[in-house]
Amino acid sequence: MVDISTSLSGIKLDNPVIPASGTFGFGYEFADYYDINILGSISFKGTTAEPRFGNPTPRIAECTEGLINSVGLQNPGVEKVVGEELPHLAKFYKKPLIANISGFSLDEYKLCAEKMNEVDQVGIIEVNISCPNVHGGGISFGTNPEAAASVAKTVRSVTNKPVYIKLTPNVTDITEIARAVEAEGADGISMINTLLGMRINLRTKKPVIANKMGGFSGPAIFPVACRMIYQVYEAVNIPIIGMGGVRSAEDVVEIMLAGASAVQVGAENLVNPYACKDIIEALPAVCEKYGINKLSDIIGGAH
Ligand code: SIN
Repeated sequence: MVDISTSLSGIKLDNPVIPASGTFGFGYEFADYYDINILGSISFKGTTAEPRFGNPTPRIAECTEGLINSVGLQNPGVEKVVGEELPHLAKFYKKPLIANISGFSLDEYKLCAEKMNEVDQVGIIEVNISCPNVHGGGISFGTNPEAAASVAKTVRSVTNKPVYIKLTPNVTDITEIARAVEAEGADGISMINTLLGMRINLRTKKPVIANKMGGFSGPAIFPVACRMIYQVYEAVNIPIIGMGGVRSAEDVVEIMLAGASAVQVGAENLVNPYACKDIIEALPAVCEKYGINKLSDIIGGAH
């Protein structure tokens, strides 16, 4: 029988498949569709210190092989997430979670990390320094090695849980950012977030998205993700959670060969709410087809 388990910083995952933050709510919303305990983990909706309504609509633009979003980190704020959303999710999901946090200042990242550190359900803190849809936060930390390192250092200092930094692909050299956060104590890297994109409505002759630009995700970005994960695997010695247009068990195998220890599925959840379930169920047969007995043995195998 094929072993599809993997691990992240000592946390054992039954399989590498994790819904990506922002594409799976707080997880319990999907419990009506299937038993979400089959998932390797869940990276829940990105959380900030205060509640956020998000960006004006339209926030979504459909594209060939993907979509652009400009949600703007809509979420109910860390107090409500910790006090209401996570206790509710605990009724449905029994495994360690990935807490995705965002901020507009080092103090905000610190506060969110401190709150998540108190939650037993949280196994890993995933620090988003790569949201392209807000000003003065997110990507402004993620595009500068010193700023990225300062976030990693700040969060690392207030939690004993593994800290994974979520990187943006909207940089010239992603390995520089990866090395900078590793040097300040990051336990792992999540990558890649969305690519900055735009659509224009031919009737109005204006951008479709109210915020003009947004983050492009979906199958079209898979080769970019694969290439960047391959590069970062060679640059650092910490695990990578790979993501970017993954929609099949074959994609999971490919991105693990590039260097990912686990894999997040994002945009595909918006197309097919059963995407993660379908991928998990298909994985053993796909492994068998390619002569893989133990999936974790192939991590970085393409190097
Ligand atoms: C958003 O809320 O705008 C998307 C989050 C992200 O891309 O990091």
